[in-house]
Amino acid sequence: MKFARIAKLLCAAGSGLALAACATVETRGPNPQVADGDAMDAPREAGVANPEIWPAYEYPVEVPAAEQARIDSLLARMTLEEKVGQLVQADLCCVSPEDAKAYNLGSILVGGNSGPYGDDLAPAPEWLKAADDFYNASIDTSDGGVGIPIVWGVDAVHGHSNIIGATIFPHNIGLGAMRDPELIERIGAITAREIRATGQEWTFAPTVAVPQDFRWGRAYEGYSSDPQLVASYVGAMVRGLQGGPDNWNMLAGDKVIASTKHFLADGGTDNGVDQGDSSISEEELRDIHGLPYGPAISEGVSTVMVSFSSWQGKKMTGNKSLVTDVLKDRMDFEGFVVSDWNAHGQVAGCTNDSCPQALLAGIDMYMAPDTWKAIYTDTLAKALSGEIPMERIDEAVAAILRVKARLGLFEAGAPSTRPLSGEFELLGAPAHREVAREAVRKSLVLLKNDGILPIAPGGRLLVAGEGADDIARQSGGWTLSWQGTGHDNSQFPGATSLFAGLKSAVESGGGSAVHSPDGSFEQRPDAAVVVFGEKPYAEFQGDRATLMLDADLTGPYATMERLKAQGIPVVAVMITGRPLYVNPALNRADAFVVAWLPGSEGAGLADVVVAGADGAPRYDFTGKLPTAWPATGSLDDGALFDFGYGLTYASPATAWETLAELDMAEAGDSRTWFANGVPAASWSLLVNDEGEIDQTRITTVPAGALGGRMRVTAANYIVQEGARRFEIASGDANVVLHNFDAVDLSREAAGDVMLLVTMQVTDPADSFALAVQGGGTQAIIPLDIPATAGFVRYGIPLRCLAGAGVDMSQLTTIMLQTSGATDYALAEVRVGNDAETVLACPAG
Ligand code: BGC
Ligand code: BGC
Repeated sequence: MKFARIAKLLCAAGSGLALAACATVETRGPNPQVADGDAMDAPREAGVANPEIWPAYEYPVEVPAAEQARIDSLLARMTLEEKVGQLVQADLCCVSPEDAKAYNLGSILVGGNSGPYGDDLAPAPEWLKAADDFYNASIDTSDGGVGIPIVWGVDAVHGHSNIIGATIFPHNIGLGAMRDPELIERIGAITAREIRATGQEWTFAPTVAVPQDFRWGRAYEGYSSDPQLVASYVGAMVRGLQGGPDNWNMLAGDKVIASTKHFLADGGTDNGVDQGDSSISEEELRDIHGLPYGPAISEGVSTVMVSFSSWQGKKMTGNKSLVTDVLKDRMDFEGFVVSDWNAHGQVAGCTNDSCPQALLAGIDMYMAPDTWKAIYTDTLAKALSGEIPMERIDEAVAAILRVKARLGLFEAGAPSTRPLSGEFELLGAPAHREVAREAVRKSLVLLKNDGILPIAPGGRLLVAGEGADDIARQSGGWTLSWQGTGHDNSQFPGATSLFAGLKSAVESGGGSAVHSPDGSFEQRPDAAVVVFGEKPYAEFQGDRATLMLDADLTGPYATMERLKAQGIPVVAVMITGRPLYVNPALNRADAFVVAWLPGSEGAGLADVVVAGADGAPRYDFTGKLPTAWPATGSLDDGALFDFGYGLTYASPATAWETLAELDMAEAGDSRTWFANGVPAASWSLLVNDEGEIDQTRITTVPAGALGGRMRVTAANYIVQEGARRFEIASGDANVVLHNFDAVDLSREAAGDVMLLVTMQVTDPADSFALAVQGGGTQAIIPLDIPATAGFVRYGIPLRCLAGAGVDMSQLTTIMLQTSGATDYALAEVRVGNDAETVLACPAG
């Protein structure tokens, strides 16, 4: 259609400013900017989108006639079993090449914690070897099948970040500070080349979240809180990874397929809760979170991953109005849609093993890491019974085959035979690292400079802080492993820590540098850099209740104060995935640099903060805040620095007015782990059965679980919906509060403190127990409690748990175990002294 083509040209011209023009407006729908009036008069159903108010785009990928003929012919020859297999993606944790062959699986992935041959840290050649194993199995037609080649997806979200030795780029939040789409495209291209060296074809990137609440632990995966800024990067990243929309046969060159994720409003959940609910209006959903999908579609992105989260109470994975009516029909997305890691199990009425709802809503491929066999079997049965219409199966398979054809998968041959395969020297190649280093330089944001920067290179530099010489720390989550924890510098060959970069810069100017984590020194330094900030985290574990740096990470403030008291100029460098209240550091340091999560090329910091031999800066600061910086633990109290703030060497020296500092004790951790129906930051609410065969994370209610045996709804306690009600029809059931980061209660256990569980039992179970786990040991406390008219706060002394062998320094799990039909509600779990009924210590 003509109009759309003109708009596309404007789009291709590409600056952020031209973005509005990328949203082409079809004659069949009103202009999104002016449509609100009419369409909105009709009453709206919660969680159901009105496609006509969304912008229309045009998917630019033309399928050549010969490719279409190939797809049609394959579809005509495939059995139903083969078709269903294409719709399923399994994780390497739980699938073998023989399985892939027997079930004709469409795809495999490695999640953050898996890798080839059971080794999350497998060396690059093993990745390529595994790619061949699966490919060869998938094309084996000895069983009479058509042998569709399998596609392998990885989370190459900041470089090929699962692979030892790969170039690790700054996480997206840092890239957002650069305002440089051209560099984004180069980063995409390099990432694609490194992926190709190890034989994969698909990255689950870019994340195009537009985080609105940085308490969300995945906020750093988004470029910015500003939709325009995010949108200005998306097309460039997709082009860098995939090539242009007309790039057919990507595998003949150096490209891979991309996935914009997570559709939609992953960054818009209330209170920034991971996988939570976004209660915003449809206009906000469209204008904030929907915006980046325009340039992605206009650039021909091959896949879209659907968010775990929900909108207005409805899980995205089951939301047909958004996935089919908006994304596919209105926005014309013609690649395929993949769900997130067992996200289908969270859709109302679904379990991890069965969810026709997702396919019917428009999901084309189930990411069913460990549940693929059950999903395959169930989908096949539902297709046979007619519950899933054949047309829907065919449509999904066709979408997947189209993407495989565009990728060039049918011609490519075994992964090891393709261009770039096995060229492991591409991983962390000097030219790639140079680009990452440029990105680090451009992403640094200078918040304060009392005139002490740049650092003169000839002097003695002290570098303090635990994180100064720690590449895992400066790389953050989704690096080598899921949460990015537990790694040391030896696992980053060729990388440069912030300290190593500083050291080499001052040494080349004739000076010297030492790293002293606690800031102590023997020879008085001329200047000090104190590196501080967050430790790596990813999903769930990164969620926080406030925008405060964790109290146990604030030790370097005292180091800054001590150094300053001795007259030593202090430069604070913050490693962080998000803006946080850090007024004490801003006050104490003479200069303050936000480094975000810079990745493997720490030398980019020194490039900017250490002067050249002539004393002049070698590079200026160009980074600007990609989101507002808070003055307290909440942006509701106003921003200290606005979006877009960032000093340069040309800025006049800051006349610093001491900032107010909060009483950290007051701001401190409340030790409430479950309240108001939701788990506190870093805790998850799960339900499972014995053996954890069927496990569901409860994020929104109402929810079904345990294959329909359990119903979870809201109940009132003090406030409306202040509790969760669990109605269990039969059998064994566990309601679990789990924390991946063990909690240390050893101090409290030595004192007179109790674990407090507030609940109301309306229909007692056959048996009811409280199980507490810590350090691999579990204590079980029988709960012989009657039905009560109201809620009761039960307390179990922590010392009883310690006495039963639970390691109280590593508490991870609190579980309510029932068997038989029961109905109870849980209002609160915390530690304290104010029990209404004290339970007896477990015997023994
Ligand atoms: C994450 C996705 C990721 C997938 C595979 C999910 O839990 O939400 O972003 O791509 O896992 O690792
Ligand atoms: C996987 C991640 C995934 C997560 C989802 C982890 O075990 O390694 O890739 O995103 O589970 O819960």
